[in-house]
Amino acid sequence: DKKHLCTVIVLGASGDLATKKTFPALFGLYKNHYLDPKTQIIGYARTKMDKATFEGHIVKYIKLKTDEDREALPKFLKLCSYQDGQYDKDQDFQVLEKEIEKVEKASGATARLFYMALPPSVFISVATSIKHNNYKKGVITRLIVEKPFGMDLESSRKLAKDLGALFTEEEIYRIDHYLGKEMVKNLMILRFANVIFGSVWNRHSIDNIQITFKEKIGTAGRGGYFNEFGIIRDVMQNHLLQILTLIAMEPPVSLGAEDVRDEKVKVLRYIPPIAKGDVLTGQYTKSKDGKEPGYLDDPTVPKGSKTPTYAATTLFIQNERWTGVPFILKCGKALDQQKTEIRIQFKEVSGHMFTNLARNEIVIRVQPNEAVYVKIMNKEPGLGMKTVISDLDLSYSSRFDNVVIPEAYESLILDSLNGDHSNFVRDDELDAAWKIFTPILKTIDSGEIEPIPYAFGSRGPHGVTEFVAKHGYERSNQE
Ligand code: BG6
Repeated sequence: DKKHLCTVIVLGASGDLATKKTFPALFGLYKNHYLDPKTQIIGYARTKMDKATFEGHIVKYIKLKTDEDREALPKFLKLCSYQDGQYDKDQDFQVLEKEIEKVEKASGATARLFYMALPPSVFISVATSIKHNNYKKGVITRLIVEKPFGMDLESSRKLAKDLGALFTEEEIYRIDHYLGKEMVKNLMILRFANVIFGSVWNRHSIDNIQITFKEKIGTAGRGGYFNEFGIIRDVMQNHLLQILTLIAMEPPVSLGAEDVRDEKVKVLRYIPPIAKGDVLTGQYTKSKDGKEPGYLDDPTVPKGSKTPTYAATTLFIQNERWTGVPFILKCGKALDQQKTEIRIQFKEVSGHMFTNLARNEIVIRVQPNEAVYVKIMNKEPGLGMKTVISDLDLSYSSRFDNVVIPEAYESLILDSLNGDHSNFVRDDELDAAWKIFTPILKTIDSGEIEPIPYAFGSRGPHGVTEFVAKHGYERSNQE
């Protein structure tokens, strides 16, 4: 059993990730009784602050919806303490060690979960300090880390090597928060627990697959970070590729972490690097009404930057199941709507019995308004034999009463507390992911591919419709 009572240490406790995601998720787990009430949470960061100021950071993004929430919050805050210190000073980490030992003694915790909510620049120095000062024989150590895992294959390997010299793969939990999303976790069940999906899930029946991520917001103050990375590193190489692997992988032997991840790595290894002709990029400009700024208007973005804020790419999986089926990934910021969805489009039916047929589609809406729906041809009710495209619709809000979709971070932190790696990215998986994207990223970084401008709030750059049509996607004329 890998379940241990953990002391949680949040490094970078006053930063964006910790306040927006980590603490609200820990609170969510606490109030729903998933967090052992004996758990102690220690925040660590460089800023000197008293307990009240620290609590201000913790509660900043916690939403209190019910009376129970309001009652739970002060009890949760009692579990939290704060300590300031530098990220590279052994003596500060020794003070932290004393604090950890003190709370361990009181709670009886047998594991330590270090949550690295930190910028990549201090990552290795903190990991080193932890290894030297807070790594204790007989106590289980777990380290949660989050992207960016390097900029390309080379830098990712360097990071993996440096981290690997300090901690074992068993101790490392690489977060891709999309793996904690309800509908992403549903993919395994949809695919492997339904014979009607399982038997058509291949190149004989499927024409193309689209995975789309759209956001309405621009870089909104994160321009400095974003500009170095661009949308492909920010969203596509991780979140969308993870969705792709879950859609495309062979059934794992079991739900065990290594069985699942073995299959995910295998499918990634069948994908050759993206070809130059299979990518289209864009960058947003001012909105049509002039109210929303363009990407280059962000003061933290260097003048003349060619960093893409939109990208569409097509990947191919060269194995028996998928050869010839385009997987079209699209993502962008500052678009007309916020939506993540998977669209699996089937081939045409053979024969000429009917005219005006649309293709079948399975659509999995990851967010918002989680749903699975299947587009089928149906007889239009009445005396004729007219066909009409219709939806078999499983919308979560109508299918499940008072459905509460857990936050992705709640799901993943709970997994890490339980020592379950199945929804975390393994080192070889990350390596395979970078292999697919590194050559095209280098081409883009060199400025060889010009991003096509698109207005803030629009549907994206011109040419996207043609791009997806070129790869076989057919918009239904009955839609
Ligand atoms: C993050 C990206 O990983 O995912 C952000 O860095 C993006 O740029 C975010 O906005 C999207 O996550 P979600 O859960 O809001 O869809």
